[in-house]
Amino acid sequence: MDNVRTENKDGILIITIDRPKVLNALNAQTVAEIGEAFEAARDDASVKCVILTGGGEKAFVAGADINELAQMTPITGKATAEKGQRVFRAIERFPKPVIAAVNGFALGGGCELALACHMRIASENAKLGLPEVTLGIIPGYGGTQRMARLLGKGKALELILTGDRIGAEEAERIGLVNKVVPADQLMATCEELARKIATRGPLAVSAAIEAVMSGSEMPFDEGQTLEATLFGLLASTEDMKEGMGAFLEKRTAEFKNR
Ligand code: COA
Repeated sequence: MDNVRTENKDGILIITIDRPKVLNALNAQTVAEIGEAFEAARDDASVKCVILTGGGEKAFVAGADINELAQMTPITGKATAEKGQRVFRAIERFPKPVIAAVNGFALGGGCELALACHMRIASENAKLGLPEVTLGIIPGYGGTQRMARLLGKGKALELILTGDRIGAEEAERIGLVNKVVPADQLMATCEELARKIATRGPLAVSAAIEAVMSGSEMPFDEGQTLEATLFGLLASTEDMKEGMGAFLEKRTAEFKNR
């Protein structure tokens, strides 16, 4: 891969989008490489959690690559949006936790990418927004849908219709990011969160992601049925016996992902 780097740090996979000269803008190749990196991580049993971040000091991802977008036709535009939507959807539905380490500008497609992750931690210098309308387009990688579901329609429309960038503190206040930390503590904070989750029962973690991510797109009763089914399914796992046995024996559980 040319534009995406991966590093497996003892079970925490750090995926870095690395085109710092263009603030990690997403051209078609980069979107495809992000998809490849997640596909490889899906089947890699050593990967417990993923942290997604941007290369360089200034940006997480400053959006879709405007050089490419400027050339689009109705047909290629639709195909571009669909390709990005497929890759971002695979991140949202990824069976292991995905944390966005938002280390600077997260604009347009970059903000949409952060929205597709399960959790978002931002550095104090991060700036987030969906400036597409300033370019005469709208978000095309799921941003209109995810922003409205995360923040509610009123706040989402304010951000989408103005195209304004907001700072990290404001993003935390409205629930767009989980937490804000000084830039030099961003990766350590994300790793600490990832490592904590990695000590939990991995099958339970996957089931919880599925219950929340799939369930929140269903009517409430269907979501509850999914929850009950996954809850019952976990009773078939060695990890449930280990987790409860460890509690009763007052020791730390050692989960085997079985
Ligand atoms: N697509 C393509 N190139 C981009 C880009 C994008 N989305 N975002 C930044 N770049 C390029 C710039 O063109 C510039 O290239 P150059 O050095 O060849 O001129 C380089 O990255 C650095 O960006 P620059 O604008 O000089 O940095 P800045 O600190 O002055 O401003 C931003 C940073 C993020 C505010 C500004 O780059 C910007 O507004 N980018 C576009 C954001 C956007 O609209 N994204 C949504 C796309 S749908």
